[in-house]
Amino acid sequence: MSFPFTVPPVAADRLPGLLRQMPKAELHIHIEGSLEPELIFALARRNGVQLPYASVEELRGAYAFSNLQSFLDIYYAGASVLLTEADFHDMAMAYFARAAQDNVVHTELFFDPQTHTARGVSMDTVINGLHRACVDAQAQFGVSALLIMCFLRHLSEQEAFETLEQAMPYRDKLVGIGLDSGEVGNPPEKFARVFARCRELGFRLVAHAGEEGPPEYVWTALDVLKVERIDHGVQSTKDPLLMQRLAKDRIALTVCPLSNLKLCVFPDLASHNLLQLLEAGLAATVNSDDPAYFGGYLNDNFTQTFAAGPLNAEHAYRLARNSFEASFIEPSARKRHLDRLEAAFETFR
Ligand code: ADE
Ligand code: ZN
Repeated sequence: MSFPFTVPPVAADRLPGLLRQMPKAELHIHIEGSLEPELIFALARRNGVQLPYASVEELRGAYAFSNLQSFLDIYYAGASVLLTEADFHDMAMAYFARAAQDNVVHTELFFDPQTHTARGVSMDTVINGLHRACVDAQAQFGVSALLIMCFLRHLSEQEAFETLEQAMPYRDKLVGIGLDSGEVGNPPEKFARVFARCRELGFRLVAHAGEEGPPEYVWTALDVLKVERIDHGVQSTKDPLLMQRLAKDRIALTVCPLSNLKLCVFPDLASHNLLQLLEAGLAATVNSDDPAYFGGYLNDNFTQTFAAGPLNAEHAYRLARNSFEASFIEPSARKRHLDRLEAAFETFR
């Protein structure tokens, strides 16, 4: 493709089509957050699990959140239907099928093993089910997928070390390590030693920071945990020095607009700071976080965010390009995706 690539101007009415068609990578998706209420009920029936909701409608009706913790309580309850390797496989395949419809060509899945091992489900069941789905996603949908194991930050560092130990037999099936769950009061530095160990072991490192928590948590995720990407990071705009650092070091932020809306981080999408992040030169990306709970998959995040503000084709290109550049794929695959991205934009010239 041409270099430097010039993005064609695209009329506002053609922008949603471009957003849907452009190939993209999703770098911030909790696979347990892709469990739709219908699948929760189907798995509950298959496994004889009793749910505290009478119907799919009643469960979906409970998805009204006031902050991160109000969501996490219901999200961990939903995951209780996952018991067998087939459950983990089926959950991930449902996500891959949906992601392929959105022209997601590469994805990096977060999973929370401690949510499952605490209920007596083995690490073997969790990782083998998800890994088999990643292999099948490539064959069935042409979507490449990598796994990132997250530590729950409301638990102790000792428990994170135990989880890492349990995962060691499967280390070849994991590309990286992340940090999620309730942020405020659980700063990144709580996990300094376990992340240092993961770094020695050669894992790629990411962490949720600056979702609800202060910019200081983004600083310590970078300087203490030494992560390569920040998940969310939207609170960074409160700290000009941090913004400079993120821009200078091209640290990607995996931003999740509909999540931020549903968890009341911003009052509406028009107030979201995605444009501010891009205009400050940050490597922002768009992602769905927990699409079954937040009312939209990846293309919904793109189209609704663009509909709410003055974002244009240049921003769309930047966001999709950032998603490939910030991903943990091989350089040759990255180059192929970037070429296809430019070809998709060419068809709008
Ligand atoms: N786990 C699932 N979704 C999350 C989010 N948005 N923040 C922190 N932990 C999570
Ligand atoms: Zn998340």
